[in-house]
Amino acid sequence: MSALPHPQPRPGVLDIDPYVPGKSTAPGAARVFKLSSNETPLGPSPQAIAAYQAIADRLEDYPDGAASDLREAIGRAFGLDPARIVCGAGSDDLLNLLARAYLRDGDEAIHTTHAFLVYPIATRGTGATPVVAPEKNFTADVDAILSRVTARTKLVFLANPNNPTGTYVPFDQVKRLHAGLPGRVVLVLDAAYAEYVSRNDYEAGIELVATSNNVVMCRTFSKIYGLAALRLGWMYGPPEIVDAVNRIRGLSTSTRRRWRPASRLSPTPRISTLRASTTGTGSPG
Ligand SMILES: Cc1ncc(COP(=O)(O)O)c(C=O)c1O
Repeated sequence: MSALPHPQPRPGVLDIDPYVPGKSTAPGAARVFKLSSNETPLGPSPQAIAAYQAIADRLEDYPDGAASDLREAIGRAFGLDPARIVCGAGSDDLLNLLARAYLRDGDEAIHTTHAFLVYPIATRGTGATPVVAPEKNFTADVDAILSRVTARTKLVFLANPNNPTGTYVPFDQVKRLHAGLPGRVVLVLDAAYAEYVSRNDYEAGIELVATSNNVVMCRTFSKIYGLAALRLGWMYGPPEIVDAVNRIRGLSTSTRRRWRPASRLSPTPRISTLRASTTGTGSPG
């Protein structure tokens, strides 16, 4: 059989180490909370559960691929232009879409030593090469990242705060990183855990996205909102990057039009309660 011609994946695909998720079972445990994936043991808001149950009898409908209502609700909650938001099947999906839109064979994408495993997977999936910048004290090091930029660099992924180290890069350092990157490089600020940080020197990235044309911020409903099973993430970016991602995305979210509870989305007091009970200090750092 093996001598017969058979389809070959593109070069690089078979070099990818598949993502290894945290264990989902443990001997003697009826229910497991995967802290390695940062699943919250506190569960989602009762309003989110009610909204989910309310669409249980409409599974035959395709979702709203443009996630219009959700983008509007996010725009209202964060004071952002909904036209500059893209929703995806988790922020994972958006990280992969950004890689697909901006990387090709021979390109390079930089991430730091203990960064999220999806970055090298998404990079290799396009035929590009992941380049690892060493960290200092388990924290992304702006100078190390900048020193690895070459003519082939097209993307820099920065998890801020990072998983699994829980460390973060202060906003003045993020701005220094951005200032040192060539304009052709997309800086992806992965702020999946932004809600857990309450330090004055932290900023998820909204300001930098708003004032540049090569920065994207990714966020997720999986972590503090406890909605990992829904696969809902979003990115906020410059119009040109949003346009590129919109051209290659699929019908990847499960959102509906007139999904009313989305319109009530807001950074509620529940978030501060969840943050305090999850981190103890209100910060992953
Ligand atoms: C740093 C980081 N970014 C992004 C994600 C992706 O989360 P999701 O695809 O559920 O939005 C995770 C999940 O573990 C993460 O740790």
